[in-house]
Amino acid sequence: MNMDVIVSLCKRRGFIFQSSEIYGGTGSCWDYGPLGVELKNNIKRAWWRDFVQQRDDMVGLDASILMHAMVWKASGHVDHFTDPMVDCRECKHRFRADQIDEMPWTHFCAATKGNKFTIPAGEPCGHCGARRTLCPDCGKGDLTAPRQFNLMFKTFMGPVEEDAAVTYLRPETAQGIFVNFDNVLQSMRKKLPFGIAQIGKAFRNEITPGHFIFRVRELEQMEVEYFVNPHERVEGRPADEHAHDRWIEACLAWYIRYGIDAQHLKLHEHGRDELSHYSKRTVDLLYDFPIGWSELMGIANRTDFDLKQHAQASGKTLTYFDEERKEHVVPYVIEPSFGVERAFLAFMLDAYREEEVRGDKRVVLRFQHELAPTKIAVLPLLKKRPEIVATAQGVRATLARDWSTVYDDTAGIGRLYRRQDEVGTPYCVTVDVQTVGDSATGESGDQCVTIRERDSMEQVRVPIPELPGLFRDLLGDRSWSDAVARYPRAKP
Ligand code: GAP
Repeated sequence: MNMDVIVSLCKRRGFIFQSSEIYGGTGSCWDYGPLGVELKNNIKRAWWRDFVQQRDDMVGLDASILMHAMVWKASGHVDHFTDPMVDCRECKHRFRADQIDEMPWTHFCAATKGNKFTIPAGEPCGHCGARRTLCPDCGKGDLTAPRQFNLMFKTFMGPVEEDAAVTYLRPETAQGIFVNFDNVLQSMRKKLPFGIAQIGKAFRNEITPGHFIFRVRELEQMEVEYFVNPHERVEGRPADEHAHDRWIEACLAWYIRYGIDAQHLKLHEHGRDELSHYSKRTVDLLYDFPIGWSELMGIANRTDFDLKQHAQASGKTLTYFDEERKEHVVPYVIEPSFGVERAFLAFMLDAYREEEVRGDKRVVLRFQHELAPTKIAVLPLLKKRPEIVATAQGVRATLARDWSTVYDDTAGIGRLYRRQDEVGTPYCVTVDVQTVGDSATGESGDQCVTIRERDSMEQVRVPIPELPGLFRDLLGDRSWSDAVARYPRAKP
């Protein structure tokens, strides 16, 4: 699957636009259009309901993006949240030193009178056998030695731009949870194990952002910090290790539940050299993106690192009193960290299908119902017939009380169906002459409408008053064939 196909669909159908496009765009920043914001909100809503509201061991939080500068010193971000970068002395392009061998490179080959070639990543020139030593982009400049580059966006709090006023846009939501650990503990009286969840923006000044929304500078995270008592054992194992495995299973199951094919997901266990400075064990969930298997999310065992760091730096006690053992403990933390952009991209990619229908190509996004930006489209068969338009508008208004519903009369019915398929709308409702009858001939209508299901394209005829009940079933947990068994089929 080519990423360009999704990028083009996202722009054409109002999912994602480039930020500040009329000024030439802002590198790696994206704006979510009318359908994109619905999909993004649906992802976040499903996540919050499943991981916070439905679990009695979880609570939520919404911490501020700007925090005390000491937070980032104590967490290690000021000293360690860096990537090694190299600069081209000629074109001034900047690269991540650890990614430079994974890029195709430009070569002016002496063996072919200086002809210019683009050579695949890691391979030598087929003519002269040379390997890349110069800038992969311009092929001419020497590269500087690697230097560490901090990825945090620096800013100033208040009107004076001085060192004492320096702070950072948060690079992860996690720290807002750690510094509120005691506030939540005291106010909510939770017992270990329990988790605090947060959804919010984070900012990283990535050296090489790209691949559409895969690596961006302004991102959104859905994170859980799950606190466990490291002195406890569950099923014969340390409680943190047991909880870590449960969370890995839960994250995998969550993506599959919302429509990702299990074959497009796999786990990657971090080797010793990959582990962050705070981690005892980290497992990434990889997705088969068009750029290859890449990180969709990570699930780390952060141990007691963060709470201890903040306790030491702030002088406050950040412990839990274990009533049974009569001792204060610093909990261990399991951290499932989801990126909203990568979840969005994976759900789009996995939903995308090109099908042939009666000799025509149809593009359809087979979104799981809960994620679909629009649940129902109401389409009048003839927009020149006022009774049809009035009935269709009435149906839209009724259904819109409970579901995101659109009305569209801007094309013929075939085109309208294709448009809704392309944005993943599960159901279309069509109002036609048979619904309203014909006042000129005195023929009365049957007050029934046609419902079309996106994936099978099957259609049934349903009385208007029964629509809310039927959609409650269809957009709830009943299948199409089960829910419509009692209605007559309509011809496609
Ligand atoms: N609190 C832990 C943490 O932030 P991370 O592996 O750096 O860990 C977690 O980030 C997730 O956030 C990633 O798996 C990815 O889904 C998302 N993410 C991180 N950086 C990103 C970026 N520049 N653009 C898009 N998503 C990003």
